Amino acid sequence: MVIDETITLRSIIALFWSINQIKNMENNIVKQLQEITKNAEAVFKNEMNDAELKEFEAQLIGKKGSISALLKQLKDLTPEEKKVVAPMVQQSRAAWAERINALKKARETEQMNRALAVEWVDVTKKPSGRRGSVHPISALQREIEELFVGMGFMIADGPHIESEWHNFDALNIPPTHPARDMQDTFWVKTGAEDTKENFVLRTHTSSVQIRAMMEHEPPLRVLAPGRVFRNEAVDATHDSAFYQIEGLVVDKGITMSHMKGMMELMLSKIFQQEITARMRPAFFPFVEPGVEMDILYTDRNGKEKWMEVVGAGMVHPNVLKNCGVDPKEHTGFAFGFGLTRLCMLKYGIADIRYLFSMNSEALGQF
Ligand code: FA5
Repeated sequence: MVIDETITLRSIIALFWSINQIKNMENNIVKQLQEITKNAEAVFKNEMNDAELKEFEAQLIGKKGSISALLKQLKDLTPEEKKVVAPMVQQSRAAWAERINALKKARETEQMNRALAVEWVDVTKKPSGRRGSVHPISALQREIEELFVGMGFMIADGPHIESEWHNFDALNIPPTHPARDMQDTFWVKTGAEDTKENFVLRTHTSSVQIRAMMEHEPPLRVLAPGRVFRNEAVDATHDSAFYQIEGLVVDKGITMSHMKGMMELMLSKIFQQEITARMRPAFFPFVEPGVEMDILYTDRNGKEKWMEVVGAGMVHPNVLKNCGVDPKEHTGFAFGFGLTRLCMLKYGIADIRYLFSMNSEALGQF
């Protein structure tokens, strides 16, 4: 090494002094690392429980761990010193991290194997207990939908919370009609002048007729099944929430005979046996003329009775006009079957409440 002549004796002494200092510091860190490693080796055991392992990790290589503290001390070394000492500390830290993680992984595998040994499920095994089944009303609804879809009908839906306008006004039901009374209808919001801003729990699926005609131009074939709500006393044939299934056909030249034929087809498909039915005139503000149909059945006391199953008729010209359809050009028919009652008749269920008894064993037999 060539020493510059300008270097004085004092500076040579200073250089020796600082080299010595660095050596001390280097030795100090290495010594500490040896000490830490020795202690860690004594503590680290495969048998440590989870809490002990966590604590060990924190104390050794955690943010405030002893090896991390050594890493912080590296900043006091010269670059040459760092080159030697830093890799030692870093490698030691990495090696411990690897050992700790390997032990953690082994723990997880062990836990998983223990769980698998106990919690396994044989998916090929037949389930014990009774299996669920489709509710008879849903099953009947699907059957009817299939029939009508096959005849080119579309399935439509509407909201349960319906505007007063869709449920009553658009259907030509006058403001004074008793159906609008609180005793008959569950009101959700009243008092607005615009009846599109008052709301009821829909009392029939006929509101979907309005929605369908407002949305689509004729020709129209629509089937709208769904739940309806009425504020009435519950008995063997009346519920306060029940299902209806609405049909609507609007086209050129539609007559009552189309309506009658369609309803008879539906009943023959549902019952697939002789039934005794009668059709009689009835009044609904949204049809003209209107009819109702009853089916003969035996009640729970063994008495023969007529059960009303449907209201129907030719769509009133005012309703067509309300929905932007010209009654001089198009005519239509509509029907609203009581789906819940059809279900009772099909399966010989004498009390409507039975269908919502939540007795899955009994309902599963249909
Ligand atoms: C109506 O709801 C009319 N919207 C039907 C209609 C549609 C007429 C299209 C003309 C054109 P009604 O209130 O009669 O009508 O009810 C229709 C059917 O629902 C009844 O025939 C009956 O089968 C069933 N139903 C009525 N009230 C109840 C009730 N509380 N519980 C169970 N089923 C009922």
